[in-house]
Amino acid sequence: MTLLAASGLTKSYGGVRAVDGVDLEVASGEMVAMIGPNGAGKSTCFGLIGGQVSADAGKVRLDGADLDGSPARRARRGLGRTFQVAQVFASMSVSENLAVAARGRDTTLLERVGLGADAQRPAADLAYGDIKRLELALALATEPRVLLMDEPTAGMAPAERRQLMTLIAGLARETKLAVLFTEHDMDVVFGHADRILVLDRGKLIASGDPSAIRANARVREVYLGHGDGSC
Ligand SMILES: Nc1ncnc2c1ncn2[C@@H]1O[C@H](COP(=O)(O)OP(=O)(O)O)[C@@H](O)[C@H]1O
Ligand SMILES: [Mg+2]
Repeated sequence: MTLLAASGLTKSYGGVRAVDGVDLEVASGEMVAMIGPNGAGKSTCFGLIGGQVSADAGKVRLDGADLDGSPARRARRGLGRTFQVAQVFASMSVSENLAVAARGRDTTLLERVGLGADAQRPAADLAYGDIKRLELALALATEPRVLLMDEPTAGMAPAERRQLMTLIAGLARETKLAVLFTEHDMDVVFGHADRILVLDRGKLIASGDPSAIRANARVREVYLGHGDGSC
């Protein structure tokens, strides 16, 4: 069942069409990766869906109803998200951060994201990979139906990346969470995505399961063939 649907998403900055007529859908329980070279428009796309970026054109729907207004309003409708540059409360401890987001709901999340032993530490003292985990716990504490994650494993070692993505994939399956994520690490993308969307210069150039994307000549040309591993 389609939970998140965006159509005609468009945003220009000056003369640059950062996002140019993007249509996408994510079903409940589905893990969808958006990949593309640096500057392709991935973060802008997430901002358009989350409401952090105002759209020039386009529509976002959650469970068939328009999703619009402020980020807070969209969050109340069930859209959770994490950012390319993680956003947590640096002046609070790890557990205080979660208490703010969870407001009495399930606080076993710190254990689930692997921060159980760090609950009393100031968030400012965490390694960057752990800050990303904390940010994920904060997003999950709002009990989202759709989760957008912009480079969730940036700053983590390969084993940690796999562990975190396995956790998220489990949540997606168990709770029917719809997940849209960007990621540099192609092992993570091809290992965990049910479907992959490829963005290039603001436009979606391909969509398919990992094997179809791997075999797609245009994708290889514009993206996988870059040689510098960037996305
Ligand atoms: N706030 C902004 N002001 C001006 N240009 C921006 C802004 N945000 C993004 N851009 C431009 O939009 C394009 C897409 O950027 P971005 O969405 O960050 O791509 P990605 O996340 O795929 O690397 C780039 O050319 C970038 O320079
Ligand atoms: Mg980005």
